[in-house]
Amino acid sequence: MQTELEGTEEQVDEREALLEDARARIEDAGDADAVKAVERDFVGKKGSVSALMAKIPSLPPEERRDFGQGVNELKRAIQDAAQAKLDALAKARLAQDRSASDFDPTLPPPAQARGSLHPITQVTRELEDLFESMGYEVLDGPEVELDFYNFEALNIPSDHPARDSQDTFFCDDAGHLVMRTHTSPVQIRAMERLEPPFRVVVPGKCFRQETTDATHDHTFHQMEGLVVGKDISVAHLIGAMKTLLEGIFERELDVRMRPGFFPFVEPGFELDARCPFCRDGCSVCKQTTWIELLPCGLVHPNVLRAGGLDPDEWSGFAFGLGLSRLVMLREQIDDIRHMLSGHLRFLEQF
Ligand code: FA5
Repeated sequence: MQTELEGTEEQVDEREALLEDARARIEDAGDADAVKAVERDFVGKKGSVSALMAKIPSLPPEERRDFGQGVNELKRAIQDAAQAKLDALAKARLAQDRSASDFDPTLPPPAQARGSLHPITQVTRELEDLFESMGYEVLDGPEVELDFYNFEALNIPSDHPARDSQDTFFCDDAGHLVMRTHTSPVQIRAMERLEPPFRVVVPGKCFRQETTDATHDHTFHQMEGLVVGKDISVAHLIGAMKTLLEGIFERELDVRMRPGFFPFVEPGFELDARCPFCRDGCSVCKQTTWIELLPCGLVHPNVLRAGGLDPDEWSGFAFGLGLSRLVMLREQIDDIRHMLSGHLRFLEQF
């Protein structure tokens, strides 16, 4: 390749000599490292081309522009020669590999790594199957929810202290749109949409403004359950919770029920499971040896009314399963924050 160099005759001669020298050495280089070393000798910081550049300030001002331009052309010509040689070497290497006696182009390509279902998806699907087999319908609801469904209709007016425990992210200045803090708003949407009696479960993502720790994340999963019918009692609720837990764990699980307050149920309960990670208390169970898993209760009459149902005619029970924590218990995951981290070393275990 011929390159036109600019400048005085003497300067052009000097640069042509350099270019010739560089091209010859690049041509002689036997591998990529050698090519790069030659390139460095010429265009590197301490190379001969840089030394030429350093001369510019000592030249008469009217010569500086042409000289600088000439040196830049020289630099580009050397870099082009080096790149052409690197390409030629790579091509030759490939051709050599292909002609090697043990290269068999008919062999299948190396196996592709395949993904797997996230443990939360796996448990969600199992639970959906379990509930569908018991006559429940699986519903979905919006993750960005109206304040009305997330709080008001669930008997949590704007001045209610229960809002403090579900601090959330507001999505508009007026405060009407929130990232839902639980799956319970779908209780109201279900009452509006379905004719009672009905049974529904609602798996989904929830969001809270939380200080995160081993069992609290800002984004986590719950599964809501709602049964509406005639004369529903705590006995129905306990029976359903037992079936649910036996179905999930397929073994005996140490559980306890205690009274719990939620404005949208009356009476309300908390079902806790014994911590599988310790005997005497650890960071997962906050030294209590119990993990809060399943709040539940009988649907409050105000909630039935907000959903358009007459509490004298209809009653129901509801539960809000902490799905992320359930997966932790089942898969012995010691920190909830692994769950949505996206790390392959975590995900590849499932
Ligand atoms: C509720 O969210 C109620 N909506 C549950 C409910 C439904 C009660 C129906 C009665 C009837 P709570 O805030 O306790 O309740 O959350 C329910 C479960 O979600 C907890 O037991 C826990 O397992 C899980 N949970 C709550 N906050 C977090 C969090 N930050 N990270 C992970 N899991 C959480």
